[in-house]
Amino acid sequence: MPFAGRHVVLGVSGGIACYKSCTLARRLTEDGAVVDVVLTASAAEFVRPVTFEALTGRPVLTSLWERDRALAHIGLAKQPDLAIVAPATAHLLARAALGMADDVLTALLLARYGPVLAAPAMNDTMYAHPATLANLKTLAARGWHFIGPDTGALAEGPSDRPGRMSEPEAIQAAAARLLVTGSRLTGKTVVVTAGPTREHLDPVRVITNPSSGRMGYALAAAAYARGADVLLVTGPTDLPLPLGVTTHRIETTAEMQRAVGALVKQADVLIMAAAPADYRPATASPTKRPRASGTLTLELEATPDILATLQRPRPCVVVGFALEAGGDGVAKARKKLQDKALDFVILNDALEPGAGFEVATNRVTIIGKGGEPIELPLLAKRDVAEKILDAVEQALT
Ligand code: CTP
Repeated sequence: MPFAGRHVVLGVSGGIACYKSCTLARRLTEDGAVVDVVLTASAAEFVRPVTFEALTGRPVLTSLWERDRALAHIGLAKQPDLAIVAPATAHLLARAALGMADDVLTALLLARYGPVLAAPAMNDTMYAHPATLANLKTLAARGWHFIGPDTGALAEGPSDRPGRMSEPEAIQAAAARLLVTGSRLTGKTVVVTAGPTREHLDPVRVITNPSSGRMGYALAAAAYARGADVLLVTGPTDLPLPLGVTTHRIETTAEMQRAVGALVKQADVLIMAAAPADYRPATASPTKRPRASGTLTLELEATPDILATLQRPRPCVVVGFALEAGGDGVAKARKKLQDKALDFVILNDALEPGAGFEVATNRVTIIGKGGEPIELPLLAKRDVAEKILDAVEQALT
């Protein structure tokens, strides 16, 4: 609950994306934040202050000249938690970069020393203009954080260039990680693999497994929320991509091996939550194999074992999973820990109801190099992810 009891100033400048700021104000408030909205005069043309007052339950500031509130913007500037500017129009960014204080929002931003997160939103050509890019660079050098803009439809029609404001959920996820304090993952690079891989028999038939990718996606989202830069290598899944995470889509185990091999060069943590296919057809047909009567015998060859063959160019905490089906799971998992030189192995049982593939929950045992295994109860995969990251943080120096 990163927002519970936290104070967020939501600055809104005048662009059509203002309507999304209403949703943002609402969600932040629902998640327990105290939200003070500050509107520029143009923003108040798009959305009346009373709308934000109703959504946040707080008075809204729209001018430096409000009776009895002359210093309200200075008070808000001093709130330590977070200021979000969404939308941040080209004009607002230009005024902030110049250090202007010609209205209540720019005056507040000039008086602020705590963190600022801005969600730019403007016409795509305005965003690409050297003046805007220079203003963004100036503000980034002063410590401002940015989310977006996204590519997609603008008020004036479709566009394939950035300009559209990020969605409220993405802004909220970016805001949440700025409120995190004391996580050893903040600023670290975490590579996560997720989902199954597919090995083709021919263009229309594959060998794969029922991995949903949920465990890996939950780990990626949880690491991002702790302030990590997350690089997700994902096999084919239907899941929505975790917000804020850089995603690399792959299909085969060999492709996953190449992607992990390249990304591990910058990783502080590697979590192999994927279920790569262990075998592939020795020869894949370039054309569809015709159906024939009788049995079909396929010759399979082993795919590369990504963890076992991993080159580690820099110190990196490595977490593997061990999916066992009955037997002495802990002993087998310990062997994998040693054979693959892992820091942790996460044991789960494919046969246990509510654990393993295709379900939203998991019951795992976290086995480290030293100490007793940590047996967790049946939990939602996001909660399992938090426990795994707690263990990873202990191992990070
Ligand atoms: N893994 C890998 N490369 C593969 C297969 C699996 O790096 N080709 C990783 C998985 O992502 C997981 C770990 O190895 O983190 C263990 O996977 P698992 O399937 O349980 O074990 P295997 O090593 O394949 O051994 P076995 O199937 O014999 O139990």
